[in-house]
Amino acid sequence: MKKILVTGGLGYIGSHTVVELQNSGYEVIIVDNLSNSSIDVLERITNITKNPPKFERLDLRIKSDVSEFFKNNSDIDGIIHFAASKAVSESVEKPLLYYENNLNTLIYLLQECETNGIENFIFSSSCTVYGEPDSLPITEEAPVKKATSPYGNTKQISEEILFDTCSVSSLKAIALRYFNPIGAHETSEIGELPAGVPQNLVPFITQTAAGVRKQLSVYGDDYPTEDGSCIRDYIHVVDLAKAHVIAMERLLSGKNETNYEFFNLGTGRGSSVLEVVNSFQHTTGEKLNYKVVDRRPGDVISVYADTKKANEVLGWKSEKTMEEALASAWKWEKKVRGIQ
Ligand code: NAD
Ligand code: WQD
Repeated sequence: MKKILVTGGLGYIGSHTVVELQNSGYEVIIVDNLSNSSIDVLERITNITKNPPKFERLDLRIKSDVSEFFKNNSDIDGIIHFAASKAVSESVEKPLLYYENNLNTLIYLLQECETNGIENFIFSSSCTVYGEPDSLPITEEAPVKKATSPYGNTKQISEEILFDTCSVSSLKAIALRYFNPIGAHETSEIGELPAGVPQNLVPFITQTAAGVRKQLSVYGDDYPTEDGSCIRDYIHVVDLAKAHVIAMERLLSGKNETNYEFFNLGTGRGSSVLEVVNSFQHTTGEKLNYKVVDRRPGDVISVYADTKKANEVLGWKSEKTMEEALASAWKWEKKVRGIQ
């Protein structure tokens, strides 16, 4: 049985990926420092898979602790690296925190890969590397634009670190560029748990419907799009999680074409903010209190993926609809809030 280390495996995307890895027969060991997650997630994963993953509380910023961990776990076959800080606006206020947490952790892990002969590495990248694209849908050939936040910059630099490392070593890495992950596991055991006021659209919608927030602000309806609101590619987190299993299988079986590869993970379909709001109301029957307000600084107008490379080369395709994702997000929110 192949043993996969999942960093940040108690977080939103990591926890869903742990479930898919276990369901596909992998042995999983999670490390997480619980900076943006709760230890309860471990039990909730186990409720789904009936198979407790191994867990070690570890802060990947502490190099000596990372080395110690690998001394005891040198038999790891592959790493999926989710652990990072991810709030764009916080990264503008605290750039060094982001550069330290998102870059040092990657470097320490890659150094341990070299020391321990671990050759298979999957990295959580983001469509944010494309900035405001010149043409749509966005292919992997689109240029990486100058990052508009330290967070975005950490993803670009991380991809460069991986490329450079793969060029001179036996490391094989795949960077997965996520578009906008939404939704929760169908069991409602795991889902997105934003700390504080949600920055992202769907958790803000579900918290507004649950009465935790008074009103959803729709940031602008004067963009050059059909209904004037911004367009994104919202992908169900379970579809996203499954892509990690396929990517790891690709590396483990040596099917990768080059030592460093990168893929867009999206649905290929763009939806506007107002479409998401209407779809949520229609799918759940909940009336949403929302108001159109000014644009949010820094928002790109329209972003959605060309998924051809992921479909044809990786052999992965998103399967779930946005309605399913929104229904699962609402079911999860209700469970978290104790709403019947
Ligand atoms: P998350 O915050 O839910 O999960 C990250 C996990 O990593 C958390 O459990 C946190 O406690 C842990 N962590 C953070 N720093 C750590 C450290 N130093 N040592 C050990 N554990 C640490 O985030 P997520 O939404 O699941 O995102 C996972 C990855 O995907 C991140 O790299 C993020 O940048 C990337 N990503 C997320 C999105 C999104 O919209 N959610 C989009 C694109 C890319
Ligand atoms: C989606 C749309 C908002 C909240 C961010 C990061 C990006 C990536 C994903 C990690 C936008 C609108 C939102 C609200 C709104 N993360 N909106 N009211 O902006 O695509 O990307 O998360 O890599 O790096 O920048 O996602 O969910 O914040 O916003 O109208 O209360 O919803 O303006 O058009 P975004 P989002």
